[in-house]
Amino acid sequence: MAKYDFTGKTVLISGAGGGLGLAAAERFAQAGAHLVLTDYNDQALEPTREAMAKLGNKAVYYAGDVVREETHAALVNLAIETHGKLDIALNNAGIAHDQKRLEDMGADESKRVLEVDILGVIFAMRAQLPQMRKQFEEQGIKSCILNTASVAGLVGAPTMSVYGAAKHAVVGLTKAAAMEYARKGVRINAICPAFTRTNMVTKPIAVSPHGPEKAEARLISNIPMARMGEINEIVQAMLWACDDENSFYTGQSLALDGGLSAG
Ligand SMILES: NC(=O)c1ccc[n+]([C@@H]2O[C@H](COP(=O)([O-])OP(=O)(O)OC[C@H]3O[C@@H](n4cnc5c(N)ncnc54)[C@H](O)[C@@H]3O)[C@@H](O)[C@H]2O)c1
Repeated sequence: MAKYDFTGKTVLISGAGGGLGLAAAERFAQAGAHLVLTDYNDQALEPTREAMAKLGNKAVYYAGDVVREETHAALVNLAIETHGKLDIALNNAGIAHDQKRLEDMGADESKRVLEVDILGVIFAMRAQLPQMRKQFEEQGIKSCILNTASVAGLVGAPTMSVYGAAKHAVVGLTKAAAMEYARKGVRINAICPAFTRTNMVTKPIAVSPHGPEKAEARLISNIPMARMGEINEIVQAMLWACDDENSFYTGQSLALDGGLSAG
């Protein structure tokens, strides 16, 4: 595993209760970061508290829904009150929907996916960017935002259309914001994983009416590497993207997909 040093950096991670967010929290903690961690509710954050305690990291926590603007204001305030600055924000919380054709997507389900997966990121960045810009203008501190999009934000994802629409929007938002803030000390990128072994993917596989083996085989059938991604493979790219040495990298959406989007 590549070694990174994030000593003295304040890193905010949403969706830190499990999957990619929790694994990222662990890696940033091991790399010396101060952490501000959030998820939907306190219960969702329980495994994270245990993991951070084991690592001896004095993370601070705030539970809240990413579709509420107040959540993001509170998180930025918490970072400033606790550590005096916000260096890195991983806007990672997200939800998927069951695999189905667009005509079968209900209105409420569609609205919720769009709210969480795109408005949640817009509201997060609206709260984070003024603080990051101010830090740069007043103290010359450079910062970084990394949004978790998806390979479904780069290529068509049949049966995942609304999720794919939201993730395409995250990619577009990332590009525009990166251009707006390129001279204001903020690098803004996205990562675009394909199916990775987190609850988001393993839960539906486990309850598939076709059985877990067939369900997984179907998921990976279009992936040139013929397998799912592992959590660590995605998280190492998160650290790479946020590393200060990666200082010319902005506005990009990095596919981590076993070759899927290369076709
Ligand atoms: N696992 C994959 O295959 C995959 C592929 C591409 C992209 N992604 C993206 O990665 C990100 C992380 O997902 P994951 O795979 O770790 O799944 P996960 O379900 O394990 O984690 C998602 C986390 O986000 C939290 N969350 C969901 N809605 C929220 C809300 N409204 N407010 C606050 N927190 C909320 C959940 O409680 C959960 O802890 C998501 O944005 C997802 O779309 C995942």
